[in-house]
Amino acid sequence: MQYGQYPAPRFTVAHLSDVHLLADDARQYGVIDTEAGLQLALDRLHRLDPVPDALVFTGDLADKAEPDAYARLRGLVEPVAADLGAQVVWVMGNHDERAPFARGLYDTDDAGPQDRVHDVGGLRIVALDTSVPQYHHGEIDAGQLAWLRDVLSTPAEHGTLLAMHHPPIPVPMVEVAAVIELHDQAALAEVLEGSDVRCILGGHFHYSSYSTFAGIPVSVASASCYSTDPAPLERFISGVNGHQSFTMAHLYDDRVVHTVVPLAPAPEVSGFPSDVRAQVEALSPEERREILSRKDSFFNAGFEDHAPPAQP
Ligand SMILES: [Fe+2]
Ligand SMILES: [Fe+2]
Repeated sequence: MQYGQYPAPRFTVAHLSDVHLLADDARQYGVIDTEAGLQLALDRLHRLDPVPDALVFTGDLADKAEPDAYARLRGLVEPVAADLGAQVVWVMGNHDERAPFARGLYDTDDAGPQDRVHDVGGLRIVALDTSVPQYHHGEIDAGQLAWLRDVLSTPAEHGTLLAMHHPPIPVPMVEVAAVIELHDQAALAEVLEGSDVRCILGGHFHYSSYSTFAGIPVSVASASCYSTDPAPLERFISGVNGHQSFTMAHLYDDRVVHTVVPLAPAPEVSGFPSDVRAQVEALSPEERREILSRKDSFFNAGFEDHAPPAQP
């Protein structure tokens, strides 16, 4: 059903980040049930229409890189992905370690940089490993840059999404986080300029953020474990148990639209049941305009049992 000027997106990508799963049902900081956070996100994925073509996890998948955490992550996510018919793209983060990540998620003992190319019906998704063993900041070595340049030398049918944990953008809301940013971003910019990369997906900050890099849109997804409060009260830095979310990326032929999806439920104050959809779709465009857009229509004047929907 097309209500407006735009057709449905060509690709739908669920962008999740910073799951930080722990083995043995342990709690992060003694409090955060990281598996419950992931489960909330997975439950929401089932509600999406259109369903995602890919689930991209941009790093910090296992808080302490424990093999059991990777096994549980896979056990939770893969059945959902199979249900949805979505490909899963795993990306390394600074909390991950290459050997258990490779063994646990890709069944390989190759413990070098975990860089991979995924083809999702003509959309190329490149997972770039920005991790540095024993450190939290990010780097991309010369070999990886040469590999990326080679991959991008052939454009993909529907372009490329570049998924990487350390986002190549400033961190104005949490200045000290720049200590663990991606180093030497200029070298990456040089590889990306003129390429078919349509968007860069990142994580690491534990809050949602947006920018551009080498002229390419950048979207940073928040975390499903805890979030970083971008406006804390008299705290140098503050991780909080709230505001967790993931981000949807809808790809149209000429742009990408990002939408933040909060994990926590909230009480509904206005709405209509889903069977109203069929009634709305049965209307002509003119009828829809008169009923849904007109301020004094019965729809907007409100039913006895429903508050009028808020006007966007
Ligand atoms: Fe993280
Ligand atoms: Fe991180």
